[in-house]
Amino acid sequence: MIGETTRRALRVDGARLMQRLDDLAAMGARDDGGCDRLAFTDADRDGRDLVTRWMRDLELDVTLDAMGNVVATRPGEAAGAPVMCGSHIDTVRTGGRYDGNLGVLAGLEVIETLGDAGLTTNRPLAVAFFSNEEGARAAPDMMGSLVYVGGLPLAEALDAVCIDGCRVGDELSRIGYQGTGAVPGQVPHAFVELHIEQGPILEAESIDLGAVTGVQGISWTEVTVNGQANHAGTTPMSYRHDAGYVAAETTAFIRRLVEEMGHAQVGTVGAIDLDPNLVNVVARKAVFTVDLRNTEEEALQEAEARLHEHLEAIAKAEGVDISTRVLARFQPVAFDPRIIELVEDTAGALDRSVRQLPAGAGHDAQMLARVCPTGMVFTPSAKGISHNPKEHTEPDDLTAGANTLLQVLLALTESDEIPVRQARP
Ligand code: HGY
Ligand code: MN
Ligand code: MN
Repeated sequence: MIGETTRRALRVDGARLMQRLDDLAAMGARDDGGCDRLAFTDADRDGRDLVTRWMRDLELDVTLDAMGNVVATRPGEAAGAPVMCGSHIDTVRTGGRYDGNLGVLAGLEVIETLGDAGLTTNRPLAVAFFSNEEGARAAPDMMGSLVYVGGLPLAEALDAVCIDGCRVGDELSRIGYQGTGAVPGQVPHAFVELHIEQGPILEAESIDLGAVTGVQGISWTEVTVNGQANHAGTTPMSYRHDAGYVAAETTAFIRRLVEEMGHAQVGTVGAIDLDPNLVNVVARKAVFTVDLRNTEEEALQEAEARLHEHLEAIAKAEGVDISTRVLARFQPVAFDPRIIELVEDTAGALDRSVRQLPAGAGHDAQMLARVCPTGMVFTPSAKGISHNPKEHTEPDDLTAGANTLLQVLLALTESDEIPVRQARP
């Protein structure tokens, strides 16, 4: 056991954390300072190789499961389920260096801090990275953690097809990370994920940390439009069955819809492929994606219904055939109030300002919340920018986040039950 006075005095080594963040950012580095480590690519493999080497250097018990999820465990004085932290190290194509990486490397930093101090926790402490959190190369997002908690059959995940036509299982095996560890994986005693906010709230309100209340609902749909290729010059407008127009008009519809719905509704058409994609040919085919999110499930369902009504109407009007495929669908998730309060109280004890807020992005924590008490800690994002090489968080904020993670994890490893905020006298 680590006594309260000892544990409260512990602090991470911020410079060491920053160095690891820089070293990992060199894997799949972009010329503009960002990261391009799409899941199951060679760059992802390079990132995995580096992080698992650090895990072994710390003499952790490193396991690799059949979905490529990696869990590194530091034994505690007692046996049993570990307190787990972690996140993901895959990125989008235009990734920054903190999305996901911070939660994994801060977990390593916590463990190294304990080693430096010669301290052993009561419960085992684990740090994990889960495969393909982004879902950008192969849907759904949070694929690895969803398989880890038993929410998606392994075979279905491995048979998923990447946007470049590869099969997930073939790519996982090609990069050498298809392990033998069983899925679903061991249920942790509790799970805490440190992550950048990726939005503007904490910075705009000059608040140091976020005690995350939950994750909003996510709806990803792939829309396929089959029209008719024709000559851009000779074809009268009334003769056209223009798949490109349908994709463009639906993109504009999504913007009108979310503005009309207001509140927390957001909507994005992020990917559009036109065929044959030539200047003088009316597009015969369009495949595009619609990402709808809302903190309220009913409102999200309304947005989905409105999208399908729109597609039905425009298919008739333009004389095209439209089919849709669900790529991902997750309802809003609420985190454990005890852990939300623990994050708040921990930030306060570190003299850091903190506020509760929901997560706009998907996170592995939303999957772990299905099986154990789960929460998240947010650090501010400069100008709210993310999924962009300009993603930035100040070193002091990163260190404050890691120190908060350290203290929250120790509160969980050193207590029999999940700590409950004592009623203030
Ligand atoms: O899409 C998301 O919210 C996350 O970045 N996977
Ligand atoms: Mn992330
Ligand atoms: Mn992301």
